[in-house]
Amino acid sequence: MSHARKYLIAGNWKMNLNSAEGAELAQDVASLVGQQTEVSVCLSPTYTALESVSKVVNKSNLLLGAQNMHQEAAGAYTGEISAEMLRHLFASFVILGHSERREYCGETDTIVNEKTLAALAANLKPIVCVGETLEEREAGRISEVIKTQVQGALVGVTTAQAENLVIAYEPVWAIGTGKTATPEMAEAVHAEIRSLLSGLFGAEAADKIRILYGGSMKPENADDLLAQPNIDGGLIGGAALKANAFAGIVESALKLSK
Ligand code: 13P
Repeated sequence: MSHARKYLIAGNWKMNLNSAEGAELAQDVASLVGQQTEVSVCLSPTYTALESVSKVVNKSNLLLGAQNMHQEAAGAYTGEISAEMLRHLFASFVILGHSERREYCGETDTIVNEKTLAALAANLKPIVCVGETLEEREAGRISEVIKTQVQGALVGVTTAQAENLVIAYEPVWAIGTGKTATPEMAEAVHAEIRSLLSGLFGAEAADKIRILYGGSMKPENADDLLAQPNIDGGLIGGAALKANAFAGIVESALKLSK
């Protein structure tokens, strides 16, 4: 029953919870699943809650992630945050190219690529998000969209760096809608992503890269999704805001790791 890669369950809190509320949720998650080491568990609060959540996370085996960063190291970029600033707060991961940022903030594959390279150079592990819209799925364009996004985000990434990469497949129509891709639908795209990674980095390196599923993942559907051979974890929105629900997904991954 054991899985080929160590599962990563990553919460994406999006624009929710202030620094005090974030620390409280992190504490609750830490009490439930913060001691085990079999599954990687990451919390990604807003920028303003990073420091308070970092303090909680650092006393446990939980890991810290950010939801975005700027591609430049420093300078006249009002309102932006650099990779080094995130590292200073002990962030391990950074979510890049989330569909909400692509849609509302105009992030293109080129920008996602620049951010991916900057994150890797700063020893932050990028969680690069890809996924098709409903319109693209219905038009039979899933493979084309995924290929463009995966290859576009990873231009210039070396095989040595690839082991620090995480990809998240988040079908846009499944995000926050309660509609989940069936395990088979998700697995088919995850397998395609793994084969794209194999084309870029070779099979050995591709086999080590974790590919997460995101989109209305919750304790009720986590077992079936995580049991798929190429689904190596989850990127969780709504359910990550409730300690019990989030921990329930971690428990699924723990069970499947045995
Ligand atoms: P939901 O789990 O709320 O559908 O959000 C998924 C997501 O966008 C995580 O990045």
